Amino acid sequence: MHLAHKDITKVLASKEQIQTRIQELAIHIDEFYQDKNVLLLGILKGAVPFMADLSRAMQIPSSQDWMAVSSYGSGTVSSGVVRILKDLDTDIKDRHVLIVEDIIDSGLTLSWLTANLAAREAKSVEIVALLRKPEAAKVKIDVRWVGFDIPNEFVVGYGLDYNEQYRSLDGVGVLAPSVYS
Ligand code: PRP
Repeated sequence: MHLAHKDITKVLASKEQIQTRIQELAIHIDEFYQDKNVLLLGILKGAVPFMADLSRAMQIPSSQDWMAVSSYGSGTVSSGVVRILKDLDTDIKDRHVLIVEDIIDSGLTLSWLTANLAAREAKSVEIVALLRKPEAAKVKIDVRWVGFDIPNEFVVGYGLDYNEQYRSLDGVGVLAPSVYS
């Protein structure tokens, strides 16, 4: 669905900007891993479009797995309490894991997740996030690659939702506050 939508007040990353940035990220990631077979770990559901586009932009071989994690509560603010809804199918001991995430907001989800993966004895754990909100950070996250730093506004599109809506928008934009207030 086109980002030009009545509920979007501002475009933060257009379809074209996202695709250009993903090509750049893929070059860096290819170079970083070279001949290692990296396991791309997508975090459901928001990372689905990013995983699909990033993995196809990469030229090195990769495997894919998915986790679904959830913060308790709903609405537009992360609570930081995480539970696993769907765990990995893969044993990641001694694997190079690249977490593919759509957005880092408070950072609490990734803070919890990286500790959880480290306990499974992965050989390496890196993060690529399409979006990051520096002003919303509650914990410091060691992210190796970021697509775009964005302001602390409620954004939807390209995987990001509000009440399961807007995930299919082809870019990322600010949601009109009238929709959720
Ligand atoms: C979003 C996003 C990240 C997390 C970021 O997921 O995909 O996983 O929140 O927030 P944080 O940095 O404050 O922890 P969400 O729980 O909305 O699930 P979804 O991807 O299925 O929509």
